[in-house]
Amino acid sequence: MQKIMALAKRRGFIFQSSEIYGGYQGFWDYGPVGVELKKNIKNEWWKTMVYGREDVVGIDASIVMNPVVWEKSGHLTAFTDPLVECKECHKRFRADHDDLLKAHSKEHNNKTEWTEAKTFNLMTEVLLGTTEPKEKSYLRGEITQGVFVNFKNVIDSTRVKIPFGIAQIGKAFRNEVTPGNFTFRSKEFEQMELEYFVKPDEKDSEKTYEKLKEIRMDWYKSLSMNPKKLHFADHAHDKRAHYAKYATDIEYEAPFGWSEMEGIHHRGDYDLSNHGLKYRDGVTNEEYTPWVIETSGGVDRATLFFLIDSYTEDGNRVYLKLNPKIAPYKVAVFPLLGNKPELTAKAREVYQELKKSMVVTWDDRGNIGKRYFAQDEIGTPWCVTVDFDTEKDNSVTVRDRDTGKQDRIAIDKLQEYFQNRLR
Ligand code: GAP
Repeated sequence: MQKIMALAKRRGFIFQSSEIYGGYQGFWDYGPVGVELKKNIKNEWWKTMVYGREDVVGIDASIVMNPVVWEKSGHLTAFTDPLVECKECHKRFRADHDDLLKAHSKEHNNKTEWTEAKTFNLMTEVLLGTTEPKEKSYLRGEITQGVFVNFKNVIDSTRVKIPFGIAQIGKAFRNEVTPGNFTFRSKEFEQMELEYFVKPDEKDSEKTYEKLKEIRMDWYKSLSMNPKKLHFADHAHDKRAHYAKYATDIEYEAPFGWSEMEGIHHRGDYDLSNHGLKYRDGVTNEEYTPWVIETSGGVDRATLFFLIDSYTEDGNRVYLKLNPKIAPYKVAVFPLLGNKPELTAKAREVYQELKKSMVVTWDDRGNIGKRYFAQDEIGTPWCVTVDFDTEKDNSVTVRDRDTGKQDRIAIDKLQEYFQNRLR
């Protein structure tokens, strides 16, 4: 983790929020390459979960909603974690995080005395308005409720029919007791979710649940995450969220142990019933409360786990073996030497041309070895070098990040060369 965190900062993936003022616990900023990686992950998710299907539409709901939403959804009463406090130094911890409790206990020679566990609500309050008392609302604790409160709007404004899904990506906020493990547990994070509405039927809904589990697991594997580091972990009855009939997590084996990356939940009719929402079948006129199967992934956790999973050391060489689809830059273009105007001019031409269809970066600093080193550390799959032969053969050298192999490719075939490899 130390190596990943150092690389993330050094190369511009992730910075501490408000770092110049000492940071702010539970909040993180994404730098120039981090924002690209995260955006690519979200785009790949949207491609699979929305564009790749005929039965899913997307929305983008507001972060702050009428507070009644959170009363009805049960979050104001049931969205809680058990909290204990160290009687000596008053630090607070999640009562169910045994590893952290043990680690803290060591700080007091294993003699820590804890208070009784209290429930602690995770919703983040916000105060709105210009007159006192200000109106209290909440930053959404899950992006999900924005989908449910728009259920009727989506049905009325589109041609969706059950079974169908509503997808959304956006920020959520939780007043976590113990944020930690880098971005893994933050107070502000992004979720990518599908809420899939089905007829209330035990067997059919279970089939959908199993199918969605498979689709989500395959998605991580299709983006080259190591299958050996992925598994499902079903939630025990007493560990399920207040809305879940049954649930499983896709876990990744992080350096800090197997950890939840995405939850797949059978929410039954819990939410639509609470909001008093029903569905009427346009053909049979039958009215019922649909059941919901949800896939809820963390964008920041996926980003962190893709970083960890792709981190590769090969002798002195460090590179991120990111799938090209999510790599921040697809290609880096260099002139062999930075002080030869004829090389630079030709390289700029190649760069501008490639830039029309993919995210490309430029580097003309230092020597070629240093540039490869820098691109390897941010996971750029291909480096293109314009050299003294380019003028003669109208070709460039393309160096592959993973094999280090170099190919000589004609400039007019470059687009095709990369597009074939990005499919
Ligand atoms: N709508 C269902 C829901 O929110 P969840 O299991 O509480 O379910 C879904 O959260 C996903 O959101 C998690 O699997 C995780 O990836 C991400 N997530 C939850 N809390 C987080 C936190 N404090 N920091 C970063 N990601 C978090």
